[in-house]
Amino acid sequence: MNREIDRKALLKRSVDEITGSRRMRRNRKAGWIRDLTRENTLTARDLIWPIFLIPGSNRREAIDAMPGVFRVTPDLAVKEAEKAAQLGIPAIATFPNIDPALRDQTGSHILSADNLINQTTRAIKAAVPELGVITDPALDPFTSHGHDGILRDGIIVNDETVAQIAEAAVLQADAGADIIAPSDMMDGRIGAIRDALDAAGFNDVGILSYATKYASAFYGPYREAIGTQGLLKGDKRTYYVDPGNTQEAVRDAALDVEEGADMLMVKPGLPYLDIVWRLKDAFGLPTFAYQVSGEYAMIRAAAQNGWIDGEKVMIESLLAFKRAGCDGILTYFAADAAVLLQDR
Ligand code: PBG
Repeated sequence: MNREIDRKALLKRSVDEITGSRRMRRNRKAGWIRDLTRENTLTARDLIWPIFLIPGSNRREAIDAMPGVFRVTPDLAVKEAEKAAQLGIPAIATFPNIDPALRDQTGSHILSADNLINQTTRAIKAAVPELGVITDPALDPFTSHGHDGILRDGIIVNDETVAQIAEAAVLQADAGADIIAPSDMMDGRIGAIRDALDAAGFNDVGILSYATKYASAFYGPYREAIGTQGLLKGDKRTYYVDPGNTQEAVRDAALDVEEGADMLMVKPGLPYLDIVWRLKDAFGLPTFAYQVSGEYAMIRAAAQNGWIDGEKVMIESLLAFKRAGCDGILTYFAADAAVLLQDR
C-alpha cells in the first residue's frame, strides 16, 4: 500500500526546538577538534607484548592459527625484546612451548632454574634491562595433560599446585622477572606467591593477577602455540570463571587484591570489557586485559580475507580497552600497533 506522507506535518518541532540548540556535532566537525576532545588515546606505552618461546637457537616457527605470530628461540626473543624497547613498548610476557619429553603429570620442569622461561628472562634482562619482563608460573606448558595444575585422579588439586606455583615464581624472580603474572586461577595463589617472593627477598617483584580468567573458547590458537592442544583432556571449568558470571568475577578479584595483587588482569579481552570496567571501578588498581589468541585470529583472518580493514580494526579494538578502563593491554598486535602509532 502506498501511503502519502506529509513530511511537514511529521515535523512538529524544529531540530533546534528538540535539542534546545544543543548540537553534539559541533565538537565533531573537523579533525583538529576531534583530536582536542578525544577522551582516550592509545600509545605504544599501553601495550604488553606476549612472546612464544621454543628451545634452540636462531629458529622461528609459524603458528597456523595466529598468522604473523611466531615461536622464537631465546636468542631471537632477545631481538624481539630489543625491538619492543625501541618501539616504546614497556614490557613483554613470555610463554614457552617446551619439549614434550619434559612435560609430566605435575609439570615438574617448571621448577628447573634453567628452563626455557628462566633462560630467556636471563638473556633478555642481560641485553635489555630497561624492558619489563612478565612471566607466568602456571603449569600448563609443563604438564603432560595441558592443565594449569597438578592432576590427580581426574581432579586439579589446588593446594599442592599453589605450593609449586609459588616455588616457580621465586625461580622466575631469581632469573630476573619483574612481574609474576599467574594465569592458573588456583585459590590462594596470590597470597602464597607474595609470601614466597618476600621470604626469598624479592619484595620488589610485583604480582599481576589474572584475577578473572574465564573458561573461554577464545584460547584455542594459544594452545596450538604452546603445544597443549592435543594434550588437554576435558576443560578448565573447575578453575576458570564461568562466562555467565560477573559477581563471582568481582569476588574472585577482591580476594586477589586482599592477598596482595599489585595489578589485575581480565582475560579474554574484548568480549569481557564489562568486567574490566567493574574491576577498575571496584578496586582502582592498575587494570589490564589480555586480547587473547582467538581475538587476534579473528581480526587477522577477516583482514586476510579483505572483509575488514585489519589495521583500523586492530587500533580501534585496542582503543576500546582504554575506554573500558584498562591501563594497558596484552596483545599479539603490540609490535604492529606500535609501528602504526609511531607514524601518527
Ligand atoms: C593458561 C593460559 C591460557 C592462555 C595463556 N595462558 C589459556 C589456556 O590455555 O587455557 C591464553 C592466551 C591466549 O589465548 O592468547 N595458563
